Amino acid sequence: ADALKIGIAGLGTVGASLVRILQDRHEMLATTCGRAIEITAVTARDRSRDRGVDLSKTTWFDDAVSLAANADIDVFIELMGGSGDPAYAAVKTALGRGIHVVTANKALLAAHGIELAAIAENNGALLNYEAAVAGGIPVIKALRESMTGNTISRVYGIMNGTCNYILTKMEKEGLSFEACLKEAQRLGYAEADPAFDIEGNDTAHKLSILTSLAFGTAIAADDIYLEGITNISIDDINAAADLGYRIKLLGVAQRTESGIEQRVHPTMVPYDSVIAQVDGVTNAVAIESDILGELLMVGPGAGGNATASAVLGDVADIAKSRPGAQHVPAFGRPTNALLPYKRAQIQ
Ligand code: NDP
Ligand code: HSE
Repeated sequence: ADALKIGIAGLGTVGASLVRILQDRHEMLATTCGRAIEITAVTARDRSRDRGVDLSKTTWFDDAVSLAANADIDVFIELMGGSGDPAYAAVKTALGRGIHVVTANKALLAAHGIELAAIAENNGALLNYEAAVAGGIPVIKALRESMTGNTISRVYGIMNGTCNYILTKMEKEGLSFEACLKEAQRLGYAEADPAFDIEGNDTAHKLSILTSLAFGTAIAADDIYLEGITNISIDDINAAADLGYRIKLLGVAQRTESGIEQRVHPTMVPYDSVIAQVDGVTNAVAIESDILGELLMVGPGAGGNATASAVLGDVADIAKSRPGAQHVPAFGRPTNALLPYKRAQIQ
């Protein structure tokens, strides 16, 4: 089969990891996928920056939209971040050409996911985004594919590696909030603007995507009750520990009699619960449903390799798919109601 030609916009923590893995495992992936995966086009802001990977055989585009509009590619991989342009315009442009898109950008999907899914469907393109929620944990696949037919009652968990890393380090090493955040940034876990992590917006973005998949609702990140971890002190963590609890930033979406409730806030969880034992950059997502029961997935939630692994899985799915094959829709069509912000109850 012909090689799958991919273009990558964004060569930072995730993009550079992805390029490295695709190059190091070229033969192995060609065998597994039944065709080679070739990087034919790339872009980032600064062309001169050394990214520790060989880009000499790829065409450099000056901006993401021109890459999406003009490159000879089968798949456009968006790893720049941000809910607006150029990510939004570039993804729309690629999908409009019938080019498959893979993205790790939860901010973009939280703002435009349903619209982008419709553009994908109308143009026979796939929109894959496993890396956008909980890093390497295959939670999108679980909700979108594996759990079809289940009625889901609740989805909740630790969905931000940076916050969990900070809370863990503060508790276990007694380090300051600021020192822990700096370290999370150095390790490539944090968003370009870390306020999105520590103020809870990133968890809200991810939760809004899971809510839509789990409950068939619109994606409404702005309607989520939101409280981050910026006010959590070492004293709070120690006081919780004295009572037998640990503090975790949780995202929770659940079915109630009057609609679907969504919230993000620091939560005291009993010390002997599985979720309390999830440390560092690790994430955990629990899904409660009627046929399967409770599914709990725990794994790396951020970082270049963990995230690139999920992106790679999405690319491999496309490489393995056959022309004309039936595809799984990126998002369902919203049918259910979300509880308005003010009525969300914290329990
Ligand atoms: P980085 O900030 O490390 O990298 C962003 C890349 O995008 C850089 O190469 C940057 O160029 C490029 N870029 C930014 N703005 C533009 C622009 N306007 N035009 C062209 N290129 C641009 O981010 P990450 O790799 O950490 O994250 C990428 C995406 O993956 C984001 O959506 C993030 O939310 C998501 N994600 C990240 C995870 C992580 O652990 N880091 C985990 C899961 C998802 P340059 O290098 O020249 O500055
Ligand atoms: N900044 C995010 C986090 C990256 O810390 O979880 C993974 O989505």
